[in-house]
Amino acid sequence: MGCNLLAMYFVIIAVDFGLGNGLKYGPCKSKCKKLGLAGCWRVCRIETDDVIEKSCWNKCSNSIIMGQNAEAALRGCIHQCRNCVLPSNQTDFVKIVDDQYTAEGPVFTKDGNFYMVATFRNEIVKVDLEKRNASLFVAPSINGLKGYPVGLQCDSENNIWVADATLGLLKLTQDGSFKQIATRDNYNNILQGCNDLTFDYQGNLWITAPTGPIFSTLENYTDSQEEPFGSVYCYNKTTDEIIKVTTGFLYPNGIAIQHDNNGTPKKLIFGESFNTTAPLWSYDIVSPCQVENKQVWGNLPSKSMPDGMDFDNEGDLIVTDYSSNYVYVFGPNGGAPICRLKCPFSAITNVHFRPNSTDLFITEREFHGLWKIQWKSEGMEQYCERV
Ligand SMILES: *[C@@H]1O[C@H](CO)[C@@H](O)[C@H](O)[C@H]1NC(C)=O
Ligand SMILES: *[C@@H]1O[C@H](CO)[C@@H](O)[C@H](O)[C@H]1NC(C)=O
Ligand SMILES: *[C@@H]1O[C@H](CO)[C@@H](O)[C@H](O)[C@H]1NC(C)=O
Ligand SMILES: *[C@@H]1O[C@H](CO)[C@@H](O)[C@H](O)[C@H]1NC(C)=O
Ligand SMILES: *[C@@H]1O[C@H](CO)[C@@H](O)[C@H](O)[C@H]1NC(C)=O
Ligand SMILES: *[C@@H]1O[C@H](CO)[C@@H](O)[C@H](O)[C@H]1NC(C)=O
Repeated sequence: MGCNLLAMYFVIIAVDFGLGNGLKYGPCKSKCKKLGLAGCWRVCRIETDDVIEKSCWNKCSNSIIMGQNAEAALRGCIHQCRNCVLPSNQTDFVKIVDDQYTAEGPVFTKDGNFYMVATFRNEIVKVDLEKRNASLFVAPSINGLKGYPVGLQCDSENNIWVADATLGLLKLTQDGSFKQIATRDNYNNILQGCNDLTFDYQGNLWITAPTGPIFSTLENYTDSQEEPFGSVYCYNKTTDEIIKVTTGFLYPNGIAIQHDNNGTPKKLIFGESFNTTAPLWSYDIVSPCQVENKQVWGNLPSKSMPDGMDFDNEGDLIVTDYSSNYVYVFGPNGGAPICRLKCPFSAITNVHFRPNSTDLFITEREFHGLWKIQWKSEGMEQYCERV
């Protein structure tokens, strides 16, 4: 109740019903005029159901000074501080389970089962979404060395592919047995520990590798939080080879593939968690497992920590922020976020859609939980749904 009243208050004070020109955000108009810009009615235009968060606006707009980019910067602040418009509101976050140390890597297999990881317990758990009950599925280990599973993806045969920080890349069948795909990359270097992964529509698998060599124990384990040795791999399913496609990042984390209208993989996109400018990097995919043209595709607000990401079927990219209680949404061309979604939990790790559905599942580390909301559209079709 208190929340709703507060939201109403912001809507009323924030909006300026100008004659004929549609709605304008009042604080933006003041700032715009103070900067001496022309066409402030256009710069500060918002939609009827937009709610701009005042504290975010103040923080964002205070740094804007007169210059060529002032207009774009004002527009950027409006976008960045806009609450995402969903069919429902925050009271509709449904908690499925909590206390799963540490919830991440949510995935549906083709047969409709749901799995995620409890990383700090070194486990992959199966979650009964109806009964809201999580139970141990597999705790991978090799020669006594415990796995540290972080990311999961499905393939067409109901197998689960696991990005693991101490064991690398694993392929897990539904009877609970698994195999390690490789221990070395195409340069014959020992694999780095893995974190997130995603299949492109050709069936090649893209993997972030922010940690040091696999087969490390908790005592000699290293990661790229301070030294930028984080890498990205592509598992070439035809050659059965793990290819290091790029390196030199401060904890690459969260990975997604953008396809063209024909379903050909077009761009590799991944976050960099420990770079304070919070970039999302992109590379053009020029042939299977081959990339070129490194670019900054977008940025979260500075000091954010991108962790997990997925596209919806309207081409918008949903990115979780491990350092706050916001999920940020980017349009198909990246840049600055177009809106943000406030969640009733922080340390947000990942997102995943139920196939053919607007159900969006979100994992987090505050309560070590799994939550569900209704998104504005269905998720982008995954590789395992297409084949
Ligand atoms: C939020 O959702 C609840 C339940 O669906 C509804 O009762 C309430 O009016 C909504 N609040 C706002 C501000 O839309
Ligand atoms: C959850 O599932 C496990 C394994 O099937 C079962 O042992 C346990 O009793 C269930 N817990 C609840 C609360 O249903
Ligand atoms: C870490 O320690 C284990 C066990 O002593 C050893 O097998 C492994 O090679 C070590 N890894 C690194 C990267 O030093
Ligand atoms: C951090 O990201 C910025 C782009 O936002 C980039 O220019 C810079 O090189 C990055 N630093 C590292 C160490 O990756
Ligand atoms: C991956 O496999 C394909 C065959 O599908 C091959 O044409 C391509 O060159 C391979 N890519 C790399 C980088 O090895
Ligand atoms: C999703 O919808 C497509 C097309 O309607 C259908 O072929 C497919 O079986 C559905 N998948 C699931 C998991 O329901």
